Amino acid sequence: MNAKFRRGALAAAALTLSLTAATQLWAHGNVTPQPVDTSALPDIPGGNDHWVEHNPYRGNPTAIKIGESAYGQNCARCHGLEAISGGIAPDLRLLEKGDTGDEWFIYRYQHGSVRDGKVYMPPLGPILGQKAGWAIRSWLETVHTDD
Ligand code: HEC
Repeated sequence: MNAKFRRGALAAAALTLSLTAATQLWAHGNVTPQPVDTSALPDIPGGNDHWVEHNPYRGNPTAIKIGESAYGQNCARCHGLEAISGGIAPDLRLLEKGDTGDEWFIYRYQHGSVRDGKVYMPPLGPILGQKAGWAIRSWLETVHTDD
C-alpha cells in the first residue's frame, strides 16, 4: 500500500469514527449540527486538513458575530445560553484567554469527548469546520469571566 493511499484510508477511518459518534448523538434526537456560514472570514491555509493551534481571528468583529450565532445553534444546548452553563457541561466563559486557552478549546472542538464508548461531547469540529470553531472561540473570549 503506498503512502498516499494509506493517508486516504486513515482519513476515511477518522471520518467514519466521528460520524459514528455524531450519529449516536443524533439517535438521542437532541443534537443536529447546524452548518455555519463562514464565507465572510479569511480562509485558513490547509482548511480542515491542517488545524492551527492559535486563533487566527481573535478580536475580529465579523468572527465574533458569526461565532455568537454558531455557538447558539451548536453549543448552547449543552453549554448553556450566552455560555452560562446550567451544569450539564463546563462553563466556557471560564476557558483561559489567549494562546493556552486556544489549544485546549480547539482540541475539544475537534475531538469532542468520548470515554468508554460514551459520547459526552460529539467531535463537532470536523463537521462544522475549523473556521466556525475559531469564530466561536473569538466570541467566547468576549464573554470571558474569571469566576
Ligand atoms: C451534547 C452536549 C455538548 C455539545 C452539543 C457541545 N459540548 Fe462541549 N462539552 C460537553 C461536555 C459534557 C464537556 C465535558 C467533557 C468532559 O469532561 O470530558 C464538554 C467540554 C467542552 C470543552 C472543554 C471545556 C473545559 O473547561 O475543559 C470545550 C472547549 C467545548 N466543550 C466546546 C464546545 C463547543 C465550541 C461546542 C459547539 C460547537 C460544544 N462544546 C458542543 C458537551 C457538549
